[in-house]
Amino acid sequence: MTTQRFTGRTALVTGAGSGIGRAVALAFAREGANLVVAGRRREPLDETVTLIEEAGGKALAVAADVSRAADIRAVVEAAVDRFGSLDVAVNNAGVFRGGTPVADLAEEDWHAQLDINVTGVFLALQAEVRRMRTQPAGGAIVNIASTFGLHKRSAGATAYAATKAAVSVLTRGAALDHIADGVRINAVSPGATATSMSLRPGETEAGRAERMRGETPLGRVSSVEEVTAAVLYLASDDASSVVGTDLVVDGGQTA
Ligand SMILES: NC(=O)c1ccc[n+]([C@@H]2O[C@H](COP(=O)([O-])OP(=O)(O)OC[C@H]3O[C@@H](n4cnc5c(N)ncnc54)[C@H](OP(=O)(O)O)[C@@H]3O)[C@@H](O)[C@H]2O)c1
Repeated sequence: MTTQRFTGRTALVTGAGSGIGRAVALAFAREGANLVVAGRRREPLDETVTLIEEAGGKALAVAADVSRAADIRAVVEAAVDRFGSLDVAVNNAGVFRGGTPVADLAEEDWHAQLDINVTGVFLALQAEVRRMRTQPAGGAIVNIASTFGLHKRSAGATAYAATKAAVSVLTRGAALDHIADGVRINAVSPGATATSMSLRPGETEAGRAERMRGETPLGRVSSVEEVTAAVLYLASDDASSVVGTDLVVDGGQTA
């Protein structure tokens, strides 16, 4: 039987129309949470809502660009209007524009990654903490960083790595700033995970599996469920004294 750690709680997940974000949203719903799912494209969010509702859960889709303060504030307001509180937030939305050495990276790709991966997490943290600190029960936030940030050296993804290092550092600082407000903030740093983001240009899933056999001690990518398990743990009361940590889920690649 599935544990029910989030019954009656409201969980917000950004980037929940695909990949890790969708898996996280479905897992929270299975454990009893009401979901608010956000992302730029409406259609994949609606699909996530349908999957949750078909499994007996409740969910609301809100189209939002996390790099815009007004958008993410509106998502938090929608969560509170619909479900009465905001208890959990997972700041997962992110983009990867890698494969290019620093000197050849388009300025637009630098700004897009900073705007979404760093400013997006910062703005979401602000909107979420401002609500959670007014609630007697506070809240818990999990940011999705990456092993590419603080944990691993990799060429060709320097701008992305810089944004993800910033997410890890933002997480620790915000955690210290707001634990006294009753808001617990942590990060998960996935290594290569089975979504389209970890496929190299033109690579098939079979090609990635072959590459990962050599690149990872575990010999394979992590599944979205394996990353999700870490996120749900940090968001749950099981982690009630875990503050400002950055949990690596990478099959031993940075061990
Ligand atoms: N897959 C991996 O190997 C891996 C490893 C380490 C870390 N990560 C991190 O895990 C997170 C999820 O990635 P994923 O692998 O699940 O990839 P994904 O399927 O591409 O998911 C990214 C999600 O973010 C949303 N998004 C992008 N820009 C946004 C914006 N400005 N505002 C709102 N939503 C936005 C996208 O939806 P829209 O385009 O509709 O907005 C999409 O649903 C990312 O932060 C990524 O950096 C992934």
